[in-house]
Amino acid sequence: MTTTQTRAADARSLQARYGPWALVAGASDGVGAEFARQAAAAGINCILVARRLQLLDQLARELKAQHGVEVITRSVDLTQPDAAARMLGSAAGLDVGLFVYNAGADPFGTKFLDTSVADWGAVLRMNVHALLESCHSIARHMLDAGRGGIVIVTSEAAFSGTSRLSVYSATKAFGLNLGESLWAELSPAGVDVLSLVLGPTDTPTLRRTLAAHKVPLDAVVQDLASAPAVVRAALERLGQEPTLVYRVPADLAAGHQSASLRRARIIETSKYMDLFYGQDT
Ligand SMILES: NC(=O)c1ccc[n+]([C@@H]2O[C@H](COP(=O)([O-])OP(=O)(O)OC[C@H]3O[C@@H](n4cnc5c(N)ncnc54)[C@H](OP(=O)(O)O)[C@@H]3O)[C@@H](O)[C@H]2O)c1
Repeated sequence: MTTTQTRAADARSLQARYGPWALVAGASDGVGAEFARQAAAAGINCILVARRLQLLDQLARELKAQHGVEVITRSVDLTQPDAAARMLGSAAGLDVGLFVYNAGADPFGTKFLDTSVADWGAVLRMNVHALLESCHSIARHMLDAGRGGIVIVTSEAAFSGTSRLSVYSATKAFGLNLGESLWAELSPAGVDVLSLVLGPTDTPTLRRTLAAHKVPLDAVVQDLASAPAVVRAALERLGQEPTLVYRVPADLAAGHQSASLRRARIIETSKYMDLFYGQDT
């Protein structure tokens, strides 16, 4: 089999594993748009959610033309209190078997006291509340269906506190640990869950941030992962492992090692919790 044939076979098996619909939160550009592209290439219909409807509609035209799939677009600001309900409303009655929660960059990049509590609250609503509410609803549907895949996009910032990333790193730790916990709970029932831990990745948001701080792209470009490569790796790893640390270039192996150490810890601590709470009947 050629590499192209292998890729096509992998893409088809994605649809067999996860069914007819994917929902991508934060789909208008970068990693989220790429998840939609690779899902559509596998014949999976897509529900695309973000704020900029024009970009979503443009992507929808591309996916329909190139892959003949159905596409629904919905403008939702995930920092708003009703965000999860609005996003889930766009998927009502549809069999969503693949869910990607991608949106979640820090729009501030300031020290803790230099942004108001009200503004930090928006980051919490997007990276904690909307994520929690949407996962709770979609995971229930997947469990009932006996299959599904959830990808939570998080960050290396989740591994430690960092000056100027205080609230961001705390919320990304929430996403990382939620995803790993769901892997422990749901994968035995056929629902795959992956915490996708990104290092610096070439996205429009990252480029805007660099430009805003007058950092030339050349200064970091050799360290940037590409969205298509990240998404390919994530869809390959989904169903194999709880965690993928995607880091370019030289630290990649170290990232995989830390992902396997995390896997061992998740299994060990989940067993330990069975001692406290008893095993499921
Ligand atoms: N790029 C990196 O170097 C890097 C590194 C580590 C982790 N990550 C993680 O990777 C993910 C993607 O990062 P990114 O750099 O592409 O930036 P991002 O701004 O989080 O993601 C871009 C996507 O999210 C959507 N989005 C952002 N804020 C939203 C909101 N309030 N409501 C609805 N949709 C929203 C954007 O669309 P609209 O603007 O149209 O709403 C766009 O579709 C994030 O979770 C981020 O934490 C990125």
